[in-house]
Amino acid sequence: MIPWELLDCATMPGERAEMNLWRRDDEFSIRLGNCEVMNSRLHGSEDALAEIACKRIGKRPNARVLIGGLGLGFTLAATLRHLVKDGEAVVAEIVPAVVKWNREILGHVAGEPLNDKRVTVYEGDVGRLMRTEKDAFDAILLDVDNGPDGLLREGNHGIYTPTGLQAIREALRSRGILGVWSVGPCREFTYRLRHSGFWVEEVPARIREGRGGRKHMLWIATRMNPRPPESEQRQEPRRPRKRRR
Ligand SMILES: C[S@@+](CC[C@H](N)C(=O)[O-])C[C@H]1O[C@@H](n2cnc3c(N)ncnc32)[C@H](O)[C@@H]1O
Repeated sequence: MIPWELLDCATMPGERAEMNLWRRDDEFSIRLGNCEVMNSRLHGSEDALAEIACKRIGKRPNARVLIGGLGLGFTLAATLRHLVKDGEAVVAEIVPAVVKWNREILGHVAGEPLNDKRVTVYEGDVGRLMRTEKDAFDAILLDVDNGPDGLLREGNHGIYTPTGLQAIREALRSRGILGVWSVGPCREFTYRLRHSGFWVEEVPARIREGRGGRKHMLWIATRMNPRPPESEQRQEPRRPRKRRR
């Protein structure tokens, strides 16, 4: 058995645990403390997140897609496979070392997506970016946690609240698509999306493309107009617990 080799260490803003890059032969793993954030052998559902959302937006000219975060680059690479030639993929990554690892060490695992001319990298919090951009994206794809009720980073809590979903709604263009990745279902989040002005599909996605029965959960939510009345909107939810990928 080939042992895991630690290649580099970094810190995630607001978290005490170290973020580490590991390699075993041709397999890469990013871990936060002892919790695996992403593994290069398991990316079926991360690809599906981009494929399904990009098919929904079709061939809109100058389409803009926001991806948060970069990880090992699979969701970004899948977005680029479906994005129009004059489109733009903005990838937000809060840990600068992750961007560096993708540029210098492991970019080949997803086909070097950062080299594509349509890609813009934002080194920072995707939540902050979504709060400042208005009517800016045809799709927003979020894979920054293990799900709305399984945060990797405490500071991400606000993304999934009614206030956070309102900011996402405003950052999306008309009929824009929000895609959210999760380890498993969360009925409370589905309900919250519906009451925040989205038409919602819950899509189970295989962990490994074409193999095995285990599935992750994707929300594919379309921005609706107009927004539901205030009386139908929900209160801010309680802070969720941690959940493993
Ligand atoms: C599960 S990985 C993403 C995997 C990615 N979909 C792929 O295909 O490899 C989660 C990534 O989101 C980043 N992240 C977490 N919170 C973030 C935030 N608020 N803003 C931007 N990036 C964030 C993490 O540093 C990590 O690189």
